[in-house]
Amino acid sequence: MYSNWEELTKSIQGCRKCKLCNWRKNIVFGQGDINADIMFIGEGPGAEEDEQGIPFVGRAGQLLNTALKALGIQRENVYIANIVKCRPPQNRNPELDEMQACLDYLRNQVILVKPKIIVLLGKVALNNILGSQYNISKARGIWVEKKGIIYMPTYHPAALLRDNSKKIDFWKDLKAVKQKYEEMELV
Ligand code: URA
Repeated sequence: MYSNWEELTKSIQGCRKCKLCNWRKNIVFGQGDINADIMFIGEGPGAEEDEQGIPFVGRAGQLLNTALKALGIQRENVYIANIVKCRPPQNRNPELDEMQACLDYLRNQVILVKPKIIVLLGKVALNNILGSQYNISKARGIWVEKKGIIYMPTYHPAALLRDNSKKIDFWKDLKAVKQKYEEMELV
């Protein structure tokens, strides 16, 4: 583990810890305020993220941006990262060895950012961070406290693109995040 951001970001340059390095254009490390109170964790970069090296800039990202804007949360005031930092081919789910190889980067990001709230976007983030016993449709919308951080699992924005009806719950969950954030008097 690295105790400062420069060392951590340097440590991932040219990473070859898993096979995803063979297909990536860019490592998508994370983006946002490195002292944020709220952190979002997704699954892994898609094509657009791979092109730009920035998380959530494709269609799912635009949906996330719209939701953040509607809530009155500035994207640059939160920190956004993924379970895997390199794009899985054809946007398949990341495989176990890939997630295991990559998770220490995320653990280190969480240690350095020290968020108070973490929003888990989708089942890959939920199962890797809180455990494989959780099911996204049952766990979403319910706060989980672990080691001083509160977690809000919700749907992945890409799931909303496939199923419009999930938008209602996604919005509810993000409103709960905003409310909690205000209650904690972080603003
Ligand atoms: N989906 C994710 O999980 N992460 C991104 O960065 C983009 C799409």
